[in-house]
Amino acid sequence: MDDSRITREGIRIHAPEDFAGMRKAGRLAAQILDEVGPMVEPGVTTGALDDFIRSRVEELGAASATIGYRGYQHASCISVNHVVCHGIPGDKLLQNGDILNIDVTVIVDGWFGDTSRMYVAGKAPIKAQRLIQVTHDALMKGIEAVRPGATFGDIGAAIQAHAEGKRMSVVRDFCGHGLGRVFHAPPNVLHFGRPGKGPVIEEGMFFTIEPMINLGRPETKVLADDWTAVTRDKSLSAQFEHSIGVTADGCEIFTPSERFFPELG
Ligand code: MF3
Ligand code: CO
Ligand code: CO
Repeated sequence: MDDSRITREGIRIHAPEDFAGMRKAGRLAAQILDEVGPMVEPGVTTGALDDFIRSRVEELGAASATIGYRGYQHASCISVNHVVCHGIPGDKLLQNGDILNIDVTVIVDGWFGDTSRMYVAGKAPIKAQRLIQVTHDALMKGIEAVRPGATFGDIGAAIQAHAEGKRMSVVRDFCGHGLGRVFHAPPNVLHFGRPGKGPVIEEGMFFTIEPMINLGRPETKVLADDWTAVTRDKSLSAQFEHSIGVTADGCEIFTPSERFFPELG
């Protein structure tokens, strides 16, 4: 039986048996983020972290979704301090107090698992610790809003209310996305919005929620490398990302980990 169909907004409704494929891909991506954690220390380069991720993706029998994606050459994005997302791994040495997001997407049996989380090199300043906590909690508030009959606006509104309630700002230039047997599909999952607005959420939808929250203003710009997005005001930015699937009464997180939230030092 094939329960797959596409909504008017172009969002795929997956069949119950498709959850198993997403679970396997999502957990593998989360496992790699678990494994790289102990390597994050002052003095290591982001390129060394990416080399480790690349080899683990291969050893675990998966494929990297990012290598070759629109010309991107790396198995992860590593976004340090005021880098919002799509930081390119390289010879940059981490310093004590740096905060960083590592984002990994893998393909397992054709299914995409996409997750990112924050890490700290050494011990982060209190204001950076607060940003990480608020960003994590904002993602979780967004996930709690997911159930059939709710809307994508409900997700965005929950995230925005939490972040702005803590006097932080939500990045508007990047969003979450549908995924499944493809990396990026409808809908655009906005991390701000109004309750009741946007497409209605239905059982069988698969998508990411991946809010980027700034300590300062929300505006971003992309550097000359055409990938690295930074805060225009150079304020610190944080991000967490889960891939989820909508169930009859809520959602399943495909990318869970007991180490999802970092030790802040
Ligand atoms: N993993 C990112 C996301 O959450 C996309 C990275 S695309 C890359 O959608 F090419 F920059 F790796
Ligand atoms: Co994503
Ligand atoms: Co991602």
